Amino acid sequence: MNPRPRQPWDPSSLPDLTGRTYLVTGANAGLGYFASEQLARAGAHVVLSGRHPNRLHAAHDAIEARVPGASVETLIIDVANPGSVRSAAASLKGGPFSRNRLDGVLLNAGIVHTPKHRRTTRDGRELVLATNALGHFVLAGELLTTLAKGASHHRRGRMVWLGSMSTRMGAHEPKDIQLEKNYGAWRAYVQSKVVVQALALEADARLRDADVPVDSVLAHPGYSIGGRTPEVAGVNQPSAWKRFRDGLQSPVAQGKQHGAWAPVRALVDPDVTGGDYIGPRFLTRGAPVVVTPSSTSRDPEVREKVWARCEELTGVRWPFAKAARR
Ligand SMILES: NC(=O)c1ccc[n+]([C@@H]2O[C@H](COP(=O)([O-])OP(=O)(O)OC[C@H]3O[C@@H](n4cnc5c(N)ncnc54)[C@H](OP(=O)(O)O)[C@@H]3O)[C@@H](O)[C@H]2O)c1
Repeated sequence: MNPRPRQPWDPSSLPDLTGRTYLVTGANAGLGYFASEQLARAGAHVVLSGRHPNRLHAAHDAIEARVPGASVETLIIDVANPGSVRSAAASLKGGPFSRNRLDGVLLNAGIVHTPKHRRTTRDGRELVLATNALGHFVLAGELLTTLAKGASHHRRGRMVWLGSMSTRMGAHEPKDIQLEKNYGAWRAYVQSKVVVQALALEADARLRDADVPVDSVLAHPGYSIGGRTPEVAGVNQPSAWKRFRDGLQSPVAQGKQHGAWAPVRALVDPDVTGGDYIGPRFLTRGAPVVVTPSSTSRDPEVREKVWARCEELTGVRWPFAKAARR
């Protein structure tokens, strides 16, 4: 989106992140796990969040074992449950966490293998939309003042949303945002990602308008699969059959440890700014570079409508004025 020149970025040699704190949702598996590991390796304190205590502890222990001296802690967040999101945000704002500041949040958790038939959450929201988009809309809104408070003269707060290259395959304008009329598993996934991308870009516009020192950035991991990913006990243990099957896709696919490069760059590269979209150089794989979001998610009318519907469905309004005052 932003054509200005970029410094070269080496994803295997991150800047020193000592003293920074990042929250990652869906940190117990996949991209969320590998992003957390990379952040911890660069010296950041990482709050690993997930919905299941055992899976979360396995990820916590794996990072401690693989990254000597890693600073990690866990926090239960079920992003499909607004109550869980709110109470986690409250504990991050003033609770027992080891640091009371937050430099950035990686809004990563998501349902990739979406249900064949439409399912809803306890509060009646379509499950894929609730998980991939609404939960993060609530979380980012709840954490906005904390992110703004963590900003300094030389560094702004940052939120990173996980989009998808699937949004380029057709318009998928989210007119029926809860897919009440025409649910399909693929449609639910792609539409949820169009919603995420529209929210990220609309957040960027609103944060700028309100002069809040927080950047909203998008990232996508190309095509990243478990069978091309290193084995990590309790986190990624693909069967021999999955390794074989995923190996056949190696010309176009990458492992999740490499898929995590784009969201990590989006979160920590000082040269990235609000509204940027970071993805793999070769669309499905490769080093992270600046890419362009789909035209539907960029459309200001779509963005505004999506934002208004998410406010309506969650009952949450972002505290822009309060965050600007800090
Ligand atoms: N992999 C790709 O090629 C690709 C491409 C484009 C975009 N993405 C996006 O990247 C993100 C991560 O994908 P991935 O490939 O890493 O997927 P993954 O391996 O399936 O991991 C998904 C993560 O999200 C968590 N999650 C799911 N529902 C949750 C909920 N209600 N509350 C909290 N956590 C929840 C999962 O936790 P559990 O273990 O508890 O289920 C897991 O930690 C997703 O947003 C996805 O849409 C991925």
